Amino acid sequence: MSQFLVISRDDAFVDRVSDAVGGDLDHWSDPALPADPGVLFSVSRDGFRPDVVILSPDLSIADGLTIASALDAAHPEITVLLVRPVERGLPVAAMRAGIRDLVAPGIDDVEFRDLLRRAARAAADRRAAAGLQDADGERRSTRGRVVVVLSPKGGAGKTTVATNLAVGLAATAPQSTVLVDLDLQFGDVAHTLQLAPEQTLSEAVGRAAARDTMVLKSYLSAHPSGLFALCAPDSPADESQITAADITHLIDQLAAQYSWVVVDTDAGLSAATLAALDRATDHVFVGGTDVPSVRGLRKELDILRQLGLVPAHRHVVINNSDTRDGLSQQDIETTLGHKADVVVPFSRSVRLSTNRGVPLLQAGTRDKAGRNLRQLVRRFEPPVPKSRPTSTARHRKGAS
Ligand SMILES: Nc1ncnc2c1ncn2[C@@H]1O[C@H](COP(=O)(O)OP(=O)(O)OP(=O)(O)O)[C@@H](O)[C@H]1O
Ligand SMILES: [Mg+2]
Repeated sequence: MSQFLVISRDDAFVDRVSDAVGGDLDHWSDPALPADPGVLFSVSRDGFRPDVVILSPDLSIADGLTIASALDAAHPEITVLLVRPVERGLPVAAMRAGIRDLVAPGIDDVEFRDLLRRAARAAADRRAAAGLQDADGERRSTRGRVVVVLSPKGGAGKTTVATNLAVGLAATAPQSTVLVDLDLQFGDVAHTLQLAPEQTLSEAVGRAAARDTMVLKSYLSAHPSGLFALCAPDSPADESQITAADITHLIDQLAAQYSWVVVDTDAGLSAATLAALDRATDHVFVGGTDVPSVRGLRKELDILRQLGLVPAHRHVVINNSDTRDGLSQQDIETTLGHKADVVVPFSRSVRLSTNRGVPLLQAGTRDKAGRNLRQLVRRFEPPVPKSRPTSTARHRKGAS
Protein backbone atom coordinates (compact mmCIF):
# COMPACT_ATOMS: atom_id res chain seq x y z
CA MET A 1 0.00 0.00 0.00
CA SER A 2 1.24 3.52 -0.75
CA GLN A 3 2.33 5.76 2.09
CA PHE A 4 1.63 9.47 2.24
CA LEU A 5 3.08 12.06 4.59
CA VAL A 6 1.63 15.56 4.79
CA ILE A 7 3.56 18.42 6.35
CA SER A 8 1.02 20.96 7.52
CA ARG A 9 -0.28 22.88 10.48
CA ASP A 10 -3.66 23.35 8.82
CA ASP A 11 -6.07 20.63 9.97
CA ALA A 12 -8.55 21.37 7.17
CA PHE A 13 -5.81 20.74 4.60
CA VAL A 14 -4.74 17.53 6.33
CA ASP A 15 -8.36 16.33 6.27
CA ARG A 16 -8.58 17.10 2.57
CA VAL A 17 -5.47 15.08 1.79
CA SER A 18 -6.68 12.31 4.08
CA ASP A 19 -9.99 12.11 2.17
CA ALA A 20 -8.11 12.03 -1.15
CA VAL A 21 -5.93 9.09 -0.08
CA GLY A 22 -8.61 7.20 1.78
CA GLY A 23 -7.19 7.90 5.24
CA ASP A 24 -3.80 6.26 4.60
CA LEU A 25 -1.85 9.29 5.79
CA ASP A 26 0.80 10.35 8.27
CA HIS A 27 1.04 13.92 9.43
CA TRP A 28 3.84 16.23 10.63
CA SER A 29 2.45 19.31 12.35
CA ASP A 30 5.41 20.62 14.34
CA PRO A 31 6.30 24.17 13.13
CA ALA A 32 9.98 23.27 13.55
CA LEU A 33 11.06 21.21 10.58
CA PRO A 34 14.00 18.87 11.20
CA ALA A 35 17.25 19.33 9.28
CA ASP A 36 17.41 15.54 8.95
CA PRO A 37 14.43 14.44 6.82
CA GLY A 38 14.68 10.96 8.33
CA VAL A 39 13.21 12.45 11.52
CA LEU A 40 10.01 13.24 9.59
CA PHE A 41 9.49 9.56 8.99
CA SER A 42 9.36 8.70 12.65
CA VAL A 43 5.99 10.47 13.02
CA SER A 44 3.92 7.37 13.43
CA ARG A 45 5.90 4.15 13.44
CA ASP A 46 9.40 2.80 13.06
CA GLY A 47 10.45 1.87 9.58
CA PHE A 48 7.85 4.15 8.02
CA ARG A 49 9.03 5.68 4.76
CA PRO A 50 6.58 7.60 2.59
CA ASP A 51 6.15 7.31 -1.17
CA VAL A 52 4.75 10.83 -1.40
CA VAL A 53 5.38 13.90 0.78
CA ILE A 54 2.83 16.70 0.42
CA LEU A 55 3.91 20.19 1.45
CA SER A 56 0.95 22.28 2.51
CA PRO A 57 0.24 25.87 1.39
CA ASP A 58 0.65 27.06 4.98
CA LEU A 59 4.39 26.29 4.92
CA SER A 60 6.63 29.22 4.02
CA ILE A 61 8.24 28.90 0.60
CA ALA A 62 11.69 28.90 2.24
CA ASP A 63 10.74 26.02 4.58
CA GLY A 64 9.13 24.08 1.74
CA LEU A 65 12.17 24.40 -0.52
CA THR A 66 14.60 23.54 2.28
CA ILE A 67 12.82 20.36 3.31
CA ALA A 68 12.26 19.38 -0.35
CA SER A 69 15.99 19.74 -1.09
CA ALA A 70 16.88 17.65 1.95
CA LEU A 71 14.41 14.93 0.90
CA ASP A 72 15.68 15.00 -2.68
CA ALA A 73 19.28 14.54 -1.52
CA ALA A 74 18.57 11.70 0.92
CA HIS A 75 15.54 9.98 -0.67
CA PRO A 76 15.33 10.82 -4.38
CA GLU A 77 12.77 8.06 -4.90
CA ILE A 78 10.15 9.94 -2.84
CA THR A 79 7.74 12.17 -4.80
CA VAL A 80 7.52 15.61 -3.18
CA LEU A 81 4.52 17.79 -4.08
CA LEU A 82 4.12 21.44 -3.15
CA VAL A 83 0.57 22.71 -2.90
CA ARG A 84 0.78 26.44 -3.50
CA PRO A 85 -0.30 29.08 -6.03
CA VAL A 86 2.31 29.63 -8.73
CA GLU A 87 4.21 32.84 -8.29
CA ARG A 88 7.14 34.40 -10.09
CA GLY A 89 10.31 32.33 -9.83
CA LEU A 90 8.64 29.51 -7.88
CA PRO A 91 8.51 26.85 -10.67
CA VAL A 92 12.26 27.06 -11.30
CA ALA A 93 13.10 27.16 -7.57
CA ALA A 94 10.78 24.19 -6.97
CA MET A 95 12.34 22.25 -9.85
CA ARG A 96 15.84 22.88 -8.43
CA ALA A 97 14.70 21.66 -5.01
CA GLY A 98 13.52 18.38 -6.56
CA ILE A 99 9.79 19.10 -6.16
CA ARG A 100 7.99 16.96 -8.73
CA ASP A 101 4.83 18.99 -9.07
CA LEU A 102 3.35 22.31 -8.05
CA VAL A 103 -0.31 21.78 -7.24
CA ALA A 104 -2.86 24.61 -7.27
CA PRO A 105 -4.64 24.79 -3.87
CA GLY A 106 -7.96 25.05 -5.75
CA ILE A 107 -7.45 21.73 -7.56
CA ASP A 108 -10.66 19.73 -7.72
CA ASP A 109 -11.00 16.68 -5.48
CA VAL A 110 -11.06 14.07 -8.22
CA GLU A 111 -8.03 15.54 -9.94
CA PHE A 112 -6.23 15.76 -6.60
CA ARG A 113 -6.92 12.10 -5.84
CA ASP A 114 -5.67 11.06 -9.30
CA LEU A 115 -2.59 13.21 -8.97
CA LEU A 116 -1.71 11.64 -5.60
CA ARG A 117 -2.24 8.17 -7.00
CA ARG A 118 0.07 8.89 -9.93
CA ALA A 119 2.64 10.43 -7.60
CA ALA A 120 2.66 7.23 -5.52
CA ARG A 121 3.01 5.09 -8.63
CA ALA A 122 5.93 7.22 -9.84
CA ALA A 123 7.67 6.82 -6.48
CA ALA A 124 7.13 3.06 -6.54
CA ASP A 125 8.64 2.89 -10.06
CA ARG A 126 11.66 4.89 -8.94
CA ARG A 127 12.06 2.64 -5.92
CA ALA A 128 11.88 -0.43 -8.14
CA ALA A 129 14.39 1.02 -10.61
CA ALA A 130 16.78 1.75 -7.76
CA GLY A 131 16.35 -1.79 -6.41
CA LEU A 132 14.97 -0.44 -3.12
CA GLN A 133 12.22 -2.02 -1.09
CA ASP A 134 8.79 -0.48 -1.32
CA ALA A 135 6.81 0.99 1.56
CA ASP A 136 5.58 -2.46 2.56
CA GLY A 137 9.11 -3.85 2.61
CA GLU A 138 8.52 -5.88 -0.57
CA ARG A 139 10.84 -5.93 -3.54
CA ARG A 140 8.72 -5.18 -6.60
CA SER A 141 8.62 -7.48 -9.59
CA THR A 142 11.41 -6.87 -12.06
CA ARG A 143 9.68 -5.18 -14.95
CA GLY A 144 12.18 -3.56 -17.29
CA ARG A 145 12.39 0.18 -17.65
CA VAL A 146 10.52 1.58 -20.63
CA VAL A 147 12.24 4.67 -22.05
CA VAL A 148 10.26 6.63 -24.65
CA VAL A 149 12.12 9.21 -26.74
CA LEU A 150 9.83 11.94 -28.06
CA SER A 151 9.68 15.40 -29.54
CA PRO A 152 6.90 17.65 -30.83
CA LYS A 153 8.90 18.34 -34.01
CA GLY A 154 10.31 16.19 -36.79
CA GLY A 155 14.06 16.05 -37.31
CA ALA A 156 14.88 17.07 -33.72
CA GLY A 157 17.17 14.07 -33.20
CA LYS A 158 14.85 11.44 -31.66
CA THR A 159 16.27 8.57 -33.67
CA THR A 160 19.83 9.74 -33.02
CA VAL A 161 19.17 9.89 -29.28
CA ALA A 162 17.18 6.64 -29.16
CA THR A 163 19.72 4.58 -31.10
CA ASN A 164 22.71 5.91 -29.16
CA LEU A 165 20.95 5.46 -25.84
CA ALA A 166 19.97 1.90 -26.75
CA VAL A 167 23.52 1.04 -27.88
CA GLY A 168 24.90 2.60 -24.68
CA LEU A 169 22.49 0.65 -22.48
CA ALA A 170 23.21 -2.56 -24.38
CA ALA A 171 26.87 -2.13 -23.43
CA THR A 172 25.84 -2.44 -19.77
CA ALA A 173 23.00 -4.92 -20.38
CA PRO A 174 23.89 -7.03 -23.45
CA GLN A 175 21.04 -9.18 -24.77
CA SER A 176 18.77 -7.37 -22.34
CA THR A 177 18.04 -4.17 -24.24
CA VAL A 178 15.50 -3.79 -27.01
CA LEU A 179 14.87 -0.78 -29.24
CA VAL A 180 11.38 -0.40 -30.71
CA ASP A 181 10.78 1.82 -33.73
CA LEU A 182 7.35 3.34 -33.18
CA ASP A 183 7.73 5.77 -36.06
CA LEU A 184 5.28 3.50 -37.78
CA GLN A 185 5.14 5.28 -41.14
CA PHE A 186 8.69 6.43 -41.78
CA GLY A 187 10.79 4.77 -39.10
CA ASP A 188 14.48 4.59 -39.89
CA VAL A 189 15.97 2.63 -36.99
CA ALA A 190 16.72 -0.22 -39.43
CA HIS A 191 18.76 2.10 -41.62
CA THR A 192 20.39 3.86 -38.68
CA LEU A 193 21.62 0.49 -37.35
CA GLN A 194 22.23 -1.13 -40.76
CA LEU A 195 19.68 -3.87 -40.10
CA ALA A 196 17.67 -5.76 -42.69
CA PRO A 197 14.82 -7.14 -40.58
CA GLU A 198 12.90 -10.18 -41.72
CA GLN A 199 10.04 -9.37 -39.38
CA THR A 200 8.91 -5.95 -38.24
CA LEU A 201 6.43 -4.40 -35.86
CA SER A 202 3.59 -5.50 -38.16
CA GLU A 203 4.32 -9.16 -37.39
CA ALA A 204 5.20 -8.42 -33.75
CA VAL A 205 1.64 -7.28 -33.01
CA GLY A 206 0.13 -10.19 -34.94
CA ARG A 207 -1.73 -12.94 -33.14
CA ALA A 208 1.15 -15.44 -32.92
CA ALA A 209 3.63 -13.05 -31.29
CA ALA A 210 1.01 -11.36 -29.12
CA ARG A 211 0.12 -14.75 -27.62
CA ASP A 212 3.60 -16.19 -27.32
CA THR A 213 6.55 -14.10 -26.16
CA MET A 214 9.01 -16.67 -27.60
CA VAL A 215 7.56 -15.97 -31.03
CA LEU A 216 7.86 -12.25 -30.41
CA LYS A 217 11.51 -12.65 -29.42
CA SER A 218 12.21 -14.53 -32.63
CA TYR A 219 10.96 -11.48 -34.56
CA LEU A 220 13.60 -9.15 -33.11
CA SER A 221 16.70 -8.24 -35.13
CA ALA A 222 20.06 -8.66 -33.42
CA HIS A 223 22.58 -5.82 -33.64
CA PRO A 224 26.34 -6.37 -33.13
CA SER A 225 26.28 -4.14 -30.01
CA GLY A 226 24.23 -6.75 -28.11
CA LEU A 227 21.04 -4.79 -28.73
CA PHE A 228 17.82 -6.19 -30.18
CA ALA A 229 15.64 -4.05 -32.43
CA LEU A 230 12.04 -4.22 -33.49
CA CYS A 231 11.97 -2.20 -36.69
CA ALA A 232 9.08 -0.22 -38.14
CA PRO A 233 6.82 -1.78 -40.81
CA ASP A 234 8.17 -1.75 -44.36
CA SER A 235 5.15 0.00 -45.77
CA PRO A 236 3.56 3.15 -44.30
CA ALA A 237 0.17 1.59 -45.13
CA ASP A 238 0.73 -1.13 -42.49
CA GLU A 239 0.51 1.53 -39.79
CA SER A 240 -3.28 1.70 -40.00
CA GLN A 241 -3.53 -1.96 -38.89
CA ILE A 242 -1.74 -1.30 -35.59
CA THR A 243 -3.83 -0.12 -32.66
CA ALA A 244 -2.89 1.60 -29.41
CA ALA A 245 -3.94 -1.58 -27.56
CA ASP A 246 -1.46 -3.56 -29.71
CA ILE A 247 1.32 -1.21 -28.66
CA THR A 248 0.40 -1.41 -24.98
CA HIS A 249 0.45 -5.19 -25.08
CA LEU A 250 3.70 -5.30 -27.05
CA ILE A 251 5.48 -3.01 -24.61
CA ASP A 252 4.24 -4.99 -21.64
CA GLN A 253 5.51 -8.20 -23.23
CA LEU A 254 8.93 -6.68 -23.89
CA ALA A 255 9.21 -5.05 -20.46
CA ALA A 256 8.56 -8.44 -18.88
CA GLN A 257 11.54 -9.91 -20.80
CA TYR A 258 14.13 -7.14 -21.12
CA SER A 259 15.78 -4.78 -18.65
CA TRP A 260 15.55 -1.85 -21.05
CA VAL A 261 12.90 -1.14 -23.66
CA VAL A 262 13.87 2.01 -25.58
CA VAL A 263 11.16 3.39 -27.86
CA ASP A 264 11.80 5.75 -30.78
CA THR A 265 8.71 7.69 -31.91
CA ASP A 266 7.49 9.92 -34.72
CA ALA A 267 6.99 13.66 -34.22
CA GLY A 268 4.15 14.76 -31.94
CA LEU A 269 1.75 12.68 -29.91
CA SER A 270 0.30 9.96 -32.14
CA ALA A 271 -1.97 7.30 -30.63
CA ALA A 272 0.96 4.84 -30.73
CA THR A 273 3.24 7.29 -28.93
CA LEU A 274 0.62 8.02 -26.27
CA ALA A 275 0.16 4.29 -25.70
CA ALA A 276 3.92 3.91 -25.20
CA LEU A 277 4.13 6.97 -22.95
CA ASP A 278 1.44 5.49 -20.76
CA ARG A 279 3.61 2.40 -20.10
CA ALA A 280 6.86 4.35 -19.76
CA THR A 281 9.03 4.71 -16.69
CA ASP A 282 11.06 7.37 -18.50
CA HIS A 283 10.26 10.10 -21.00
CA VAL A 284 13.23 11.54 -22.92
CA PHE A 285 12.24 14.84 -24.54
CA VAL A 286 14.37 16.00 -27.46
CA GLY A 287 14.33 19.61 -28.64
CA GLY A 288 16.53 22.21 -30.26
CA THR A 289 17.56 25.70 -29.19
CA ASP A 290 15.27 27.64 -31.56
CA VAL A 291 12.15 29.34 -30.21
CA PRO A 292 9.52 27.15 -32.02
CA SER A 293 11.27 24.00 -30.82
CA VAL A 294 11.45 25.12 -27.18
CA ARG A 295 7.85 26.37 -27.20
CA GLY A 296 6.70 23.11 -28.77
CA LEU A 297 8.52 21.17 -26.08
CA ARG A 298 6.93 23.26 -23.34
CA LYS A 299 3.50 22.59 -24.84
CA GLU A 300 4.20 18.88 -25.02
CA LEU A 301 5.31 18.78 -21.37
CA ASP A 302 2.12 20.64 -20.39
CA ILE A 303 -0.17 18.39 -22.41
CA LEU A 304 1.32 15.22 -20.95
CA ARG A 305 0.93 16.64 -17.48
CA GLN A 306 -2.72 17.46 -18.17
CA LEU A 307 -3.21 13.94 -19.46
CA GLY A 308 -1.68 12.58 -16.28
CA LEU A 309 1.21 11.03 -18.20
CA VAL A 310 3.96 11.92 -15.75
CA PRO A 311 6.46 9.08 -15.47
CA ALA A 312 8.90 8.28 -12.72
CA HIS A 313 11.74 9.93 -14.65
CA ARG A 314 11.82 12.74 -17.16
CA HIS A 315 14.93 13.74 -19.10
CA VAL A 316 15.30 16.73 -21.36
CA VAL A 317 17.90 16.57 -24.14
CA ILE A 318 18.68 19.76 -26.03
CA ASN A 319 20.11 18.59 -29.33
CA ASN A 320 21.87 20.34 -32.16
CA SER A 321 22.60 23.15 -29.74
CA ASP A 322 24.09 26.16 -31.35
CA THR A 323 25.61 28.66 -28.95
CA ARG A 324 25.77 31.45 -31.56
CA ASP A 325 22.15 31.67 -32.73
CA GLY A 326 20.11 29.57 -30.31
CA LEU A 327 18.45 30.48 -27.01
CA SER A 328 20.69 30.25 -23.94
CA GLN A 329 20.41 27.20 -21.72
CA GLN A 330 18.98 29.37 -18.96
CA ASP A 331 16.25 30.78 -21.22
CA ILE A 332 15.38 27.27 -22.38
CA GLU A 333 15.15 26.01 -18.80
CA THR A 334 13.01 28.95 -17.72
CA THR A 335 10.61 28.44 -20.64
CA LEU A 336 10.41 24.70 -20.08
CA GLY A 337 10.24 24.83 -16.29
CA HIS A 338 12.64 21.89 -16.47
CA LYS A 339 16.40 21.46 -16.41
CA ALA A 340 18.20 20.76 -19.71
CA ASP A 341 19.63 17.47 -18.47
CA VAL A 342 21.89 16.83 -21.45
CA VAL A 343 22.99 19.23 -24.19
CA VAL A 344 24.28 17.67 -27.41
CA PRO A 345 26.01 20.18 -29.70
CA PHE A 346 25.72 20.23 -33.46
CA SER A 347 28.41 17.90 -34.77
CA ARG A 348 29.28 16.64 -38.22
CA SER A 349 30.17 13.30 -36.65
CA VAL A 350 26.47 12.78 -35.80
CA ARG A 351 25.38 13.39 -39.37
CA LEU A 352 28.12 11.10 -40.64
CA SER A 353 27.14 8.37 -38.18
CA THR A 354 23.52 8.49 -39.39
CA ASN A 355 24.59 8.23 -43.00
CA ARG A 356 26.97 5.37 -42.26
CA GLY A 357 24.52 3.48 -40.07
CA VAL A 358 26.92 3.32 -37.11
CA PRO A 359 25.76 5.20 -33.98
CA LEU A 360 28.39 7.38 -32.31
CA LEU A 361 28.42 5.22 -29.18
CA GLN A 362 29.05 2.13 -31.28
CA ALA A 363 31.89 3.80 -33.16
CA GLY A 364 33.36 5.06 -29.87
CA THR A 365 33.50 8.65 -31.17
CA ARG A 366 34.88 10.87 -28.44
CA ASP A 367 33.90 14.36 -29.59
CA LYS A 368 31.60 16.50 -27.41
CA ALA A 369 28.43 15.09 -29.01
CA GLY A 370 29.60 11.53 -28.26
CA ARG A 371 30.62 12.44 -24.70
CA ASN A 372 27.29 14.09 -23.99
CA LEU A 373 25.30 11.19 -25.42
CA ARG A 374 27.29 8.99 -23.02
CA GLN A 375 26.31 11.37 -20.23
CA LEU A 376 22.68 10.63 -21.15
CA VAL A 377 23.33 6.89 -20.84
CA ARG A 378 24.86 7.41 -17.40
CA ARG A 379 21.62 9.00 -16.18
CA PHE A 380 20.08 5.54 -16.46
CA GLU A 381 22.60 3.75 -14.31
CA PRO A 382 20.71 2.90 -11.13
CA PRO A 383 21.67 5.23 -8.30
CA VAL A 384 23.56 3.70 -5.41
CA PRO A 385 21.01 3.59 -2.59
CA LYS A 386 22.07 6.06 0.03
CA SER A 387 22.24 4.91 3.61
CA ARG A 388 19.49 6.39 5.70
CA PRO A 389 20.61 8.85 8.37
CA THR A 390 19.84 7.60 11.83
CA SER A 391 16.70 9.24 13.12
CA THR A 392 16.56 10.56 16.64
CA ALA A 393 12.81 9.83 16.59
CA ARG A 394 12.05 12.69 18.93
CA HIS A 395 8.84 13.82 17.28
CA ARG A 396 5.86 11.56 17.23
CA LYS A 397 2.95 13.41 15.71
CA GLY A 398 0.70 10.51 14.98
CA ALA A 399 -1.97 10.76 12.31
CA SER A 400 -4.97 12.46 13.78
N1 LIG B 1 23.69 16.91 -32.73
C1 LIG B 1 23.59 16.77 -34.06
N2 LIG B 1 24.54 17.32 -34.87
C2 LIG B 1 24.44 17.21 -36.21
N3 LIG B 1 23.48 16.53 -36.85
C3 LIG B 1 22.52 15.97 -36.09
C4 LIG B 1 22.52 16.04 -34.67
N4 LIG B 1 21.46 15.37 -34.20
C5 LIG B 1 20.81 14.88 -35.27
N5 LIG B 1 21.44 15.23 -36.41
C6 LIG B 1 21.07 14.88 -37.78
O1 LIG B 1 19.77 15.39 -38.04
C7 LIG B 1 19.05 14.49 -38.84
C8 LIG B 1 17.73 14.16 -38.13
O2 LIG B 1 18.06 13.43 -36.96
P1 LIG B 1 17.10 12.25 -36.45
O3 LIG B 1 16.76 11.36 -37.58
O4 LIG B 1 17.74 11.69 -35.26
O5 LIG B 1 15.83 13.12 -36.05
P2 LIG B 1 14.36 12.60 -35.74
O6 LIG B 1 13.82 13.49 -34.68
O7 LIG B 1 14.38 11.16 -35.47
O8 LIG B 1 13.63 12.88 -37.13
P3 LIG B 1 12.18 12.32 -37.56
O9 LIG B 1 11.18 13.19 -36.87
O10 LIG B 1 12.18 12.53 -39.05
O11 LIG B 1 12.11 10.90 -37.16
C9 LIG B 1 19.93 13.27 -39.07
O12 LIG B 1 20.57 13.39 -40.29
C10 LIG B 1 20.98 13.37 -37.95
O13 LIG B 1 22.23 12.85 -38.32
MG1 LIG C 1 13.31 9.56 -36.32
